Amino acid sequence: MRKKIVAGNWKMNTNLQEGVALAEKVNEALKGVTPNCDVVIAVPFTHLASVNAVIDSAKLGLGAENCADKKSGAYTGEVSASMVASTGATYVILGHSERRQYYGETSAILKEKVGLALENNLTPIFCIGEVLEERENGTYFDVVKAQIEEALFELSAEDFGKIILAYEPVWAIGTGKTATDDQAEEMHAFIREILAAKYGEAVAEETSILYGGSCKPSNAAQLFAKPNVDGGLIGGASLEAESFMGIVNAF
Ligand code: PGA
Repeated sequence: MRKKIVAGNWKMNTNLQEGVALAEKVNEALKGVTPNCDVVIAVPFTHLASVNAVIDSAKLGLGAENCADKKSGAYTGEVSASMVASTGATYVILGHSERRQYYGETSAILKEKVGLALENNLTPIFCIGEVLEERENGTYFDVVKAQIEEALFELSAEDFGKIILAYEPVWAIGTGKTATDDQAEEMHAFIREILAAKYGEAVAEETSILYGGSCKPSNAAQLFAKPNVDGGLIGGASLEAESFMGIVNAF
């Protein structure tokens, strides 16, 4: 059975002290309870080592929000996958629409990042999703298919099996406008079909596909009830332990 996962994406929010305090709160909320899903927080690079020191990694996974597309060397300001792994983090978000949109990350760049993440035993949470115009002009299936094919389809079935996907329609991110549960399910089922055609039914059935975009405690249960929605990637609502846990408990 594929994993159910709720992952927080803090983005560029919280200073180090605030971030450690938030991680401590989430960690505390998980004490003595066994949620029906894996719980992960993806935090700014600067917070990784300090957050790792205050959480119980058996109950709360830790990830970065990005990593470099190069191994090491003269790339001022970049943070490599091996540096991320050395903090104790085990996940990395890659291909988030904000990285694609504001920092020009192409499928070719993302392919490099995915390879380096896997080499360093990081689990990529790979984001895909269409913009509003593509939703409205009906090309959204093609867009998502191309994003998956271009960055991931040179992976072996074994390596592909290590990937978590996150479908995040860009028009739903941070806008308060959630995709309906039927829209999410339709896309997730489509993605699973593409995976089955490329890697076979078993790999497709084992791949966790998260939904992201204005997911909150009030709509999470309805989204997560859909058979192909295996959890959520949570931005705004992950910045408070209560709302984040409200989503975790929606499972
Ligand atoms: P949001 O962000 O929950 O604030 O819409 C989701 C994401 O970008 O991962």
